[in-house]
This record gives sequence, C-alpha cells and structure tokens, in this order.
Amino acid sequence: MNNILTIDGPSGVGKGTIARIMAQKLDWHLLDSGAIYRAFALAVDARGVDIGNENALEKIAQTLDLEFKTEVGSELVSVFLDGRDVSKTLRTEQTGEMASKIAAIGVVRGALLKRQQDFAQAPGLVADGRDMGAVVFADAPFKVFLTASAQERAERRLKQLQAQGTAGIISQILAVVVARDERDCSRENSPLKPAKDALVIDTTELSIDEVVAQVSELVTKS
Ligand code: DC
Repeated sequence: MNNILTIDGPSGVGKGTIARIMAQKLDWHLLDSGAIYRAFALAVDARGVDIGNENALEKIAQTLDLEFKTEVGSELVSVFLDGRDVSKTLRTEQTGEMASKIAAIGVVRGALLKRQQDFAQAPGLVADGRDMGAVVFADAPFKVFLTASAQERAERRLKQLQAQGTAGIISQILAVVVARDERDCSRENSPLKPAKDALVIDTTELSIDEVVAQVSELVTKS
C-alpha cells in the first residue's frame, strides 16, 4: 500500500502524540506498535511464562487475543487483552520495561510482525514504533525518525505523568529513559535506528505544531 507514514524514535520523544495528530489530519488508520509489545508482555506475565522459554513466547505471540477499540467521537483507544480492558496497566513504566526486555527477543519480533503489517489498510496508515520504517514497513513512502535529548524526553514524560495525576521524580525518570534507550538501541534484533530514507527531526527545541508541520510537509510535497 502506498499511503504509509512511519514515525519511529526513542521512548518519550512524542511519537504517539505526533502519530495521533497525523492520523487524524490524514484520516488514516493508526498503529501504536508499542502497545502490541506492551500487551504481549502483559500476556506473558499473566501466564507466568519464563522469558527464556522461546517456544512458549512464540505460541503466545501467535495466539494473542488483542483488540483495539476506539469510542465513536473520541480519540481514546482502549486495548483489550483476552477480553479484558488493559488500557491503564498497558501504559505503566513497569509494563514498558517488561515490553522493552521482551521486544529484544527475535522470535517475538518475528511472530508479531504480520500482526503489525495487517494494520496497513485503505485509506492509509500512520505507524508509530521503533522499527516501523526500517523493518515492518520498509517500503513505506513516508518515513520520519524523531529524536530529542534524554533530558527533554524525561521532562516530557514527567509532564505527561503529572497530567495523569501521578507524581514523578525527574532524576528517576531520566535514569529509566536512558536505560530503555540503551536496551532498545543495543539489541541485536531490529535495534532502534533511523531507516536510511527517513527524515530525522530533532524535536528538542520544537513545539508539537512545528513537528506536525514538518511531517505534514513530507507527506504532502511527495
Ligand atoms: O513505544 P513504547 O514505549 O510503547 O514501547 C514499549 C517498548 O516496546 C519499547 O521500549 C521497545 C518495544 N518496542 C519495540 O521494540 N518495537 C516497536 N516497534 C515498538 C515498541
């Protein structure tokens, strides 16, 4: 399919926000691939499976009962795992950590690949993640890689937590951001790095509107 916009980058860079705005603007579908890895991590945890047991992990990935539901007239997406709404648990730091560890395992990435590619449906798709442009949708015509300093990403994450009514300590958040970057960038399977043909945007000094303007220009000028 020709209408695919991939938005990759490290944790806390604002991919989710930009992807949601772009999907609304273009009226395309949205794939939050991190939510798939997070839900998978919850499923593994709930089943008490050891993450060294690759056969069991592969089986869970192949049979994952996962559904994304959007309320009519709302931009909120609820995620159902085994028929249960896990939207809140999905977004916690603990789930993010588990997802980051499990996402480094090759059989897991392979087993979850088609599930992500199935989101590519007319009229178009905005896909957010780590390897959307480099691996999952390598033929996508529009690829963006967002970066920002670790300090800036930690501050954005803190604001997000505060908006949800949760307290946070900046030094601790920064340590988590740096550790997650290290794991996501140094893994053997699909490490976090820009696709060769991606537009790299350093968002450290940019507002959301300024990033959206640059991404929109990429899609409309082509
Ligand atoms: O984007 P996120 O924080 O929801 O992602 C959680 C973890 O999942 C992230 O630390 C690494 C992994 N992930 C991945 O390996 N590949 C993706 N395309 C998306 C997420």
